[in-house]
Amino acid sequence: MNDIEAGAARVSVDDKAMINCRADVNQLLPLKYHWAWEKYLAGCNNAWMPTEVSMQADISLWKSKDGLTDDERLMIKRNLGFFATSESLVANNIVLAVYRHLTNPECRQYLLRQAFEEAVHTHTFQYICESLGLDDGELFNMYREIPSITDKAAWALQFTQHLEDPEFRTGTPEMDQAFLKDLVAFYVVFEGMWFYTGFAQILSLGRRNKMVGIAEQYQYILRDESIHLNFGIDAINQIKIENPHLWNDVFQKEVRTMLAEGCELEIAYGRDTMPNGVLGLNAELCEQYMRFITNRRCAQLGLEPVWETTENPFPWMSEMMDLKKEKNFFETRVIEYQNGGSLEW
Ligand SMILES: [Fe+2]
Ligand SMILES: [Fe+2]
Repeated sequence: MNDIEAGAARVSVDDKAMINCRADVNQLLPLKYHWAWEKYLAGCNNAWMPTEVSMQADISLWKSKDGLTDDERLMIKRNLGFFATSESLVANNIVLAVYRHLTNPECRQYLLRQAFEEAVHTHTFQYICESLGLDDGELFNMYREIPSITDKAAWALQFTQHLEDPEFRTGTPEMDQAFLKDLVAFYVVFEGMWFYTGFAQILSLGRRNKMVGIAEQYQYILRDESIHLNFGIDAINQIKIENPHLWNDVFQKEVRTMLAEGCELEIAYGRDTMPNGVLGLNAELCEQYMRFITNRRCAQLGLEPVWETTENPFPWMSEMMDLKKEKNFFETRVIEYQNGGSLEW
């Protein structure tokens, strides 16, 4: 942080910028990016804690001998193993990389809220692990022991490690593009693509009345994540508007390649978590779903689609985000939270 410039001119809206901004980052008002402030308010309206959800039904099902098939158990464990550390990877990227280089106070206000939400999500996996009596060493080491999970984490880490270097500075096209790539890797690929196979897996079990406590927690996480994703998309698009030279043809091609790579990694993860499939869900459907999602993310960034057009095989996922309508769906709890924020995805 720079020294205080006593008596300096007051900050006007036009002085504010997403990156490489010289205006005082300690002055929230006057607001420039109302979309960032709206997302902060929406995030606050979505407050929840994992411990408010009863785990009784999940515990008896998990401990029962024949309530779940071996394939369902494998899918659940690898699903939890992926999320358990991913929430921390995302949180560390926000705090150690994104926060430093996004030079706007209303965006930082949202990042502070998001960082807390990621802590709540990590707490969720601690709570699930404890409730079901899972082996925490197994769960929290999957990102180092299960190749399809390691591959995803390793792919994402290459984009944040560079930015966490204390010597790293934005301000040249090359470095600004490195920052944009981090935003694409974490907000669009990690939170906007890789979480969605996992959501579909658990919510599909919930629809069959299995692991209903975890399914309810995943609904809340999905609602939070849809705002995280939309914040990332808005931030990237705003940086593009302010710095059109960064978003050239070569760079657009690189971003499309990143999305295609992310999609392939997710398809491999789908095969690894569902070698035989479970009732109503299998690796092929998840592959189709991931190609659909990837094209959707391309459109949100103003890019040409990566794959041929496919239909969404899980139209019911959209309903899962509308918690008001579905609030009694799993019948585990009836506290009504406000449904804040646009849930467009
Ligand atoms: Fe999260
Ligand atoms: Fe997130």
